[in-house]
Amino acid sequence: MRVIKVSGPQEGGRVACDILEDCLGKGAKVLGLATGSSPISFYEEICRRQLDLSEVTSINLDEYVGLSPDSPQSYRHFMEEHLFQHRPMKANYLPDGQAEDLEETIEAYDSIIENHPIDLQVLGLGRNGHIGFNEPGTDFDLKTHLVSLAPSTLEANARFFDQPSDVPKQAISMGIASIMSAKTVLLLAYGQEKAEALAGMLQGPVTEDLPASVLQRHSDVIVIADQDALSLC
Ligand code: GLP
Repeated sequence: MRVIKVSGPQEGGRVACDILEDCLGKGAKVLGLATGSSPISFYEEICRRQLDLSEVTSINLDEYVGLSPDSPQSYRHFMEEHLFQHRPMKANYLPDGQAEDLEETIEAYDSIIENHPIDLQVLGLGRNGHIGFNEPGTDFDLKTHLVSLAPSTLEANARFFDQPSDVPKQAISMGIASIMSAKTVLLLAYGQEKAEALAGMLQGPVTEDLPASVLQRHSDVIVIADQDALSLC
């Protein structure tokens, strides 16, 4: 894994954008995208540079179950606000968290991923080491699946909702097998609250107890992190 130390999210967003431009220059056509605070400066930089993404397809990692796409807390809404409405793309896929038949929507999402091999997968890092919504204990071989969110994730994500009890308890997440099939993985981590998970991911054993540790088995991973996130390394 290549670790690039940056001063904070602003520099991290610029470095991530350089990497994206490099991938696009080499013909990348499919991006795996993430939500959360970590990729925001990256999306801002894409907008600032006015990158042409009109030939690019995006596939997001995850979506809450039960939220409408218009709900301000849905990941579809997040992506529209931070990227899609500013930089139109060929297609933007996110799991349909409101589907009546979740099994069907999960299978359909795997087909989308199979038909669009991911060139560059952007990831944030959960405080408990999750990637996407693959919580500790998730089988590394899983593809898209329904997730019951860990208590620590419900707590961490409560800041985006009016009340902690409003955080959906379930989500649909791309699986670790799909994340690992991406050609290049770009993980962004900023702040002290990521330090433990990042140290475990970079230096600990590969274990399902810390899902991000699986990235040690991937041949092309770039980590962009600040000093606080790297403080336990
Ligand atoms: C959520 C998302 C993850 C994200 C994580 C970290 O749980 N499902 O994809 O990586 O939050 O978020 P943040 O970047 O806000 O710390």
